[in-house]
Amino acid sequence: MHNVRKITKDLYWIGGNDRRLAKFEAHYPIPDGVSYNSYLLVDDKTVLFDTVDRAIESQFIENIEHVLGDRSLDYIVVNHMEPDHCATLQSVATKYPNAIIIGNAKTFNMIKQFFTFDCDCRCMLVKENDTFETENHTFKFVMAPMVHWPEVMVTYDEKTGMLFSADAFGSFKALNGNVFADEIDFERDWLDEARRYYTNIVGKYGMQVSNLFKKVENFEIKMILPLHGPIWRENIPFIIEKYLKWASYEAEEKGVVIAYGSIYGNTANAAEILATKLAEKGVKNIKVYDVSVTHTSYILSDCFKYKNLVFASATYNGGIFTYMENLLTELKGHNVQNKKIGLIENGSWGPMAKKQMKELLSCFKNTEVLEDCVTIKSSLSDEQIAQLDKLAEDLIAE
Ligand code: FEO
Repeated sequence: MHNVRKITKDLYWIGGNDRRLAKFEAHYPIPDGVSYNSYLLVDDKTVLFDTVDRAIESQFIENIEHVLGDRSLDYIVVNHMEPDHCATLQSVATKYPNAIIIGNAKTFNMIKQFFTFDCDCRCMLVKENDTFETENHTFKFVMAPMVHWPEVMVTYDEKTGMLFSADAFGSFKALNGNVFADEIDFERDWLDEARRYYTNIVGKYGMQVSNLFKKVENFEIKMILPLHGPIWRENIPFIIEKYLKWASYEAEEKGVVIAYGSIYGNTANAAEILATKLAEKGVKNIKVYDVSVTHTSYILSDCFKYKNLVFASATYNGGIFTYMENLLTELKGHNVQNKKIGLIENGSWGPMAKKQMKELLSCFKNTEVLEDCVTIKSSLSDEQIAQLDKLAEDLIAE
């Protein structure tokens, strides 16, 4: 049975949710699911904005049929070709053979890579700032390369201020009937997952996100319609401000992330003592993570949020403990920068983790790795408590 929501007088949300998928992109845990948003305009022309993941294909087709009624589908705008949004494009294009597909040159290259249907005979090729009109709308296409793939574009309606933003402003979590951000307590219930989505999915491309913001800064945006998560029609400056902050790689709040990789508990012991020392010195936001327990995506998200980071690693096979190396590689891959970092290493006979962590961190832009690191030989000694105290002082020194 169809399940849609009317968004405006002529626009419908026709997406759906996946609450069974364990890992988004086969990588990121989504314990609260994810939504795949798609929108259908019913004006003098009917226009579909993006499709959905294969997991909800049958629901999606029912939704399209219901909203179209006895009309046909005239246009499909493809803002993003990643399969979580386009896996069902071929099915829809085949079902509605007269629908013209709107995309840019890169879009059509990818359509040909992913699918076998003939799109050349039905493509409307658009480039930067081209427009497409229906009776009550003038859609302008704005290229947004690498937010999050090279073919990404966003579509802005000059008449209503609606911005179809593709992955930008998206979030993990399934929608629960409330498709608008003003129908939920976003800051309490969604912000952490929106940040985890942004930092892990788009975080590497802060410069490209900033470039997109420059292109749209003079647009009068009245509604943001992303491909995941809630739609924004109120308090739009709030989410734009968050995005500008995340894209700049500046910390959102004061605080310290302590991530440790510990095999028999002694490195963990040092991390926990450091947390206590920081708390005694008045630090309020302290996040301690065991890297072998918590998925990197959560830690990475907090590493964007806070400026001060500590990595405490056992030496393992002559190098960094596996899960810690994975975390640091992820941080590097996501362009984490502007940080102050303290290190703790452990090694019973040949501590090597510090040296290799320093090497890995050396390419982080505008990042200070504190000189005085703590080296544990098997377990903390009494004298090393003072070293942890100094590490805490150095970390929070302005
Ligand atoms: Fe939600 Fe880049 O796809």
